[in-house]
Amino acid sequence: MKRDIISVLDMKSDFEKFVDDGIKLKKSFKAGVKDSSMDRKTLGMIFEKASTRTRVSFETAMTQLGGHAIYLSPKDMQMGRGETIADTGRVLSGMVDALLYRAFEHENVVELAKNSSIPVINGLDNLEHPTQIVADYMTIKEKKGKLKGLKIAYVGDGNNTANSLMLAAGLVGADFWIATPKGYGPPEYFVKESRSIAKRHRSEIEVTNNYREAVAGADVIYTDVWVSMGEEQDREKKEKAFRSFQVNERMVSLAKKDYIFMHCLPAHRGLEVTDEVADSKNSVIFQEAENRLHAEKIILKKVID
Ligand code: CP
Ligand code: NVA
Repeated sequence: MKRDIISVLDMKSDFEKFVDDGIKLKKSFKAGVKDSSMDRKTLGMIFEKASTRTRVSFETAMTQLGGHAIYLSPKDMQMGRGETIADTGRVLSGMVDALLYRAFEHENVVELAKNSSIPVINGLDNLEHPTQIVADYMTIKEKKGKLKGLKIAYVGDGNNTANSLMLAAGLVGADFWIATPKGYGPPEYFVKESRSIAKRHRSEIEVTNNYREAVAGADVIYTDVWVSMGEEQDREKKEKAFRSFQVNERMVSLAKKDYIFMHCLPAHRGLEVTDEVADSKNSVIFQEAENRLHAEKIILKKVID
């Protein structure tokens, strides 16, 4: 049976294995070990929205593993002229070995997966960003040597990245605190699901509007943009509501001394994070971005035969 990665929940049984195998693969790549496991394999990559990291990391991952990737924009595809997602999935299933899809709507990723006989990987939608989260927990494990028992504080918008990070926190047994302005918390479904997973791993998921209690004693402080792709019409309102949630030197002074600062990027410096924090010795944002390349490789190797 094919394996889709649409949600972090599709890695429920082996999420930490993705993380550990990703770290191993990165080490062997850096040691010069050749891996041609994607020989003659092709990844189709449909991007409805902009991307730097996801596009380049998946394309490079395929190249380094001896395969090939095709960038597809709905603007240039028949999908943009009314061909259905279902028909697109059926057609591409006969030509490529897996599909990566960055979509505005989660339902469309589900629809593509349902109508494709090949694996579909969610390259970010309005609800989740699962491939990012593998790279994130790889980075935390590299820096902290463990995941279980850590306190991760996410400060900002209860968005796609936050939902996926929160689901995975329970899977690795980390405590997860999310602090957002009132009205911008994560959807109830994700909180409930994350709490039920966390309970089994004896960790906690806490949702608050008070960033001080979230950040107090944290091992990791994570933020993301306040205005995600597709929400541009809310920019003014959101920037006002989020002003006091900026990750700055005053805020991070509440965390553990050796805390690490993370951001999936792109960062809007001066808004959700200051230059002082983003460029500080505690910041791991570029290691985190580089880890996308290694995370994508492990994801591809696990879904493509
Ligand atoms: N973090 C991330 O997904 O970046 P891109 O939007 O550049 O792909
Ligand atoms: N939450 C952001 C993540 C970008 C990688 C967005 O959806 O735009």
